[in-house]
Amino acid sequence: MSDNKLDLNLQERYYADVAEIMKVRCKGEKPVALVRTYGCQQNVADSEKIKGMLNKMGFIFTENEEEADFIIFNTCAVREHAEDRVFGNVGALKNIKRKNSSVIIAVCGCMMEQRHVAERIKKSFPFVNIVFGTHVIHRLPEMIYTAIVDSQRVFLHGKDGDEVFEGLPIKRDSKSHAWLTVMYGCNNFCSYCIVPYVRGREKSRKSADIIKEFKELVDAGYKEITLLGQNVNSYGKGLEEDINFPKLLKILDSFEGDYRIRFMTSHPKDATHEMFDVIANSKHISHHIHLPFQSGNDRVLKEMNRIYNREKYLNLINYAKSVIPDLSLTSDVIVGFPGETYEEFKDTLTLIEEVGFTSLFTFIFSPRVGTKAEKMDDPITYEEKNKWFNELLKTQEAIAAKRCASMVGKTERVLIEEKNEKTGLLSGRTDSSIIIEFEGPDEYIGSFKNVKVTEARNWILRGKLTD
Ligand code: SAM
Ligand code: SF4
Ligand code: F3S
Repeated sequence: MSDNKLDLNLQERYYADVAEIMKVRCKGEKPVALVRTYGCQQNVADSEKIKGMLNKMGFIFTENEEEADFIIFNTCAVREHAEDRVFGNVGALKNIKRKNSSVIIAVCGCMMEQRHVAERIKKSFPFVNIVFGTHVIHRLPEMIYTAIVDSQRVFLHGKDGDEVFEGLPIKRDSKSHAWLTVMYGCNNFCSYCIVPYVRGREKSRKSADIIKEFKELVDAGYKEITLLGQNVNSYGKGLEEDINFPKLLKILDSFEGDYRIRFMTSHPKDATHEMFDVIANSKHISHHIHLPFQSGNDRVLKEMNRIYNREKYLNLINYAKSVIPDLSLTSDVIVGFPGETYEEFKDTLTLIEEVGFTSLFTFIFSPRVGTKAEKMDDPITYEEKNKWFNELLKTQEAIAAKRCASMVGKTERVLIEEKNEKTGLLSGRTDSSIIIEFEGPDEYIGSFKNVKVTEARNWILRGKLTD
């Protein structure tokens, strides 16, 4: 038996033990947990596993810290701002612990994989009971057990092994939309990025495990399934089977049912014509692709270690648009990479104008401890970078508004996600991933409906149900 399977089997006894102990501690009432998630969809998916495990230990869930018997923050290390928020919010739990000394507090996720951060939590926040990294989340039952029964603080960091854990329980946040991780980790070491250090090396799940989970989701009525990985285009590398990402997409698209497939994130260096061809010929795969370019300037891209250049990126986009004429593109952009000049930044502006993105996730460079870019000369002030950032936002807002305006009069298939309590309108996303609001009955939430676009309000649409 592999170490991982052995590890998972060991946890089984802790599930039952913690459930029993919590029952006594909560005097027969169900124990209550609060799970707060920071960061990307990978963390959201991990938190659904944490909730699955807690659920199996008898917990119910709350958003209110004062009601909780167990509080866990699943953290993100991608930018300094994200980390500062976590430090502030963990610090504020001191008052909660003062009012209720039996509450168990845990901090996990990407930030905790950085030893200096885990040390700071250990020293500055003695009221935190459990600290653990991204490679050991399956040992949560054991950690809670040790924190309660042995009254010990628990600090756990596992090794980044080769194997993928299968079989953890998942409690999904939505009944219509599901995250499905196809691979873990990242091998790319973009010079600014902390993710490869905190998430470890790339590991793909076996296609049979993905297909099984996918079919279960479709059978359970999930309408939108997003395949997750830091670089889904390198899916399959290292597996013994003959599979790559386009092949996986083709298999998943072949199942009968009323569902839509999305995926993120695609890395331009590995995105292939084969993938765009599969999407173009598919029944269920969304015509929206998130393809981060980060910078429009070749020198900056090289310093970022992104491997592609502006021409290669634009050639890819041109091919994709030629086979998928209604393609909707979104992207990530970094402003103010160390050494970037205003002239070089202007290449980013011309690139976004040339491509016509539906929307952008824009970030000002944030130095991350241990990365190559942290040590690079960075002469441009934050104030100056902020000016460039605002210029980028203004340019993109105009592009997005134009794109939305061009959709007026068209009918879109919309997955209805929620009701806006303020306006009373239903809201959902078009296939191109644009938010659209319209009047309709609550029971439509969680289903696909056709909606005619009647108005574009900058980058949000208004519409009318046609069925
Ligand atoms: N794997 C994805 C890719 O390569 O496109 C990106 C994942 S990363 C979690 C999300 C985005 O955060 C990146 O695309 C990048 O734009 C941004 N990012 C990462 N590190 C950053 C840093 N140090 N400063 C600013 N933005 C950063
Ligand atoms: Fe970070 Fe680059 Fe990996 Fe994306 S591909 S997670 S930006 S190192
Ligand atoms: Fe943050 Fe970790 Fe995702 S660093 S962006 S939560 S992989």
